[in-house]
Amino acid sequence: MTELDIPSPSSLEVKAVWQSLAEAHRHLAELKGLCESLPNRAILLDTLAIQEAKDSSEIENIITTHDELYAYDQSSSASPAAKEVQNYIAALKVGFTDVVNFGLIRMSTILRVQEEVEQNNAGLRKVPGTVLKNQTTGAVVYEPPQDAVVIEKLMTQLVDFIHAADELDPLLRMAIAHHQFESIHPFYDGNGRTGRILNLLMLQREGLLDLPVLYLSRYITSTKSQYYQLLQSTRETRDWVGWCVYIVKGVAITAKSEIRLIKNLRELMQATKHRLRNELPRIYSQELLNNLFRYPYTKIEFVEKDLGISRITAAKHLDALAANGFVEKKKIGRTNFYINRPLFNLLTQISLNDE
Ligand SMILES: Nc1ncnc2c1ncn2[C@@H]1O[C@H](COP(=O)(O)OP(=O)(O)OP(=O)(O)O)[C@@H](O)[C@H]1O
Ligand SMILES: [Mg+2]
Repeated sequence: MTELDIPSPSSLEVKAVWQSLAEAHRHLAELKGLCESLPNRAILLDTLAIQEAKDSSEIENIITTHDELYAYDQSSSASPAAKEVQNYIAALKVGFTDVVNFGLIRMSTILRVQEEVEQNNAGLRKVPGTVLKNQTTGAVVYEPPQDAVVIEKLMTQLVDFIHAADELDPLLRMAIAHHQFESIHPFYDGNGRTGRILNLLMLQREGLLDLPVLYLSRYITSTKSQYYQLLQSTRETRDWVGWCVYIVKGVAITAKSEIRLIKNLRELMQATKHRLRNELPRIYSQELLNNLFRYPYTKIEFVEKDLGISRITAAKHLDALAANGFVEKKKIGRTNFYINRPLFNLLTQISLNDE
């Protein structure tokens, strides 16, 4: 690979592609509208990002528990897996902030995202030797560019392609850019995770969503063998239709699943609000409700800060909530957490299947 490989727009003007595009855009538009109708839009971002980070890092419950993921804070001695999830969330935030601030996905943004993912500053590959192997047989399947000058040139071309002002559908642009990014394989490690974050940044920059809630990693990791096979075969055959349909279909499936999730969350929040107002009118406030939905694992400090009340009052509120079954009190390490179990269940049981 010495030049970026971009398919001609006319080669993508086939029924399978435009059908999948139409469906994906329909669901994306619904998702965007749904997000706009949410009263407390920002609340769910952190909790949704945890699931994306977990899926992208392919952290299974066996390695780390949800307790660890949700109750993690910087001072605790978390497991390597939980730290990896936190690094991914930090990388997502760095990327989103840059896109919001600059309206661009600059080379520096990509470098910073990868730096957060990997927690090192090795930067673009400079030393040859990186090859991609078949994960089961260990056989080399692809040798990405080795020359540092070539890698840098290709990355510049890719950044230009991401921002090109032509007629290409933004979802096709994302699909093609993702393929080329993985083929350049610009870093020693973390190319997969950085590439998956880049997908989200592209969707955000194109204005297809104004909240970063379309998390594609679950789709990609749950169809991993197809994903790997298509990455390879597209480069070999230069037949881009299958690849584009695969990615665009992932957008549709993920958007549908996200729509269901957000509707369920909205209902749950509404129902909790009514119950709280009826059963605990003295402590009810919109801020308290928001707190319970912002932190599936909340704690005294969070309530103290969000509501601007004393530590003692915050503790009393939380204990009243626990006594009335709104939250479940659980001691993890030295801290008492108050778990919003129905919310937790919703977040951890997201499914890509239709119903
Ligand atoms: N044949 C291939 N051609 C191009 N890219 C490939 C091929 N096989 C795998 N890849 C890409 O390489 C990524 C893995 O690269 P790397 O180990 O640097 O990333 P990672 O973030 O550490 O791992 P992972 O993606 O498994 O979480 C895969 O996610 C995939 O996107
Ligand atoms: Mg790796």
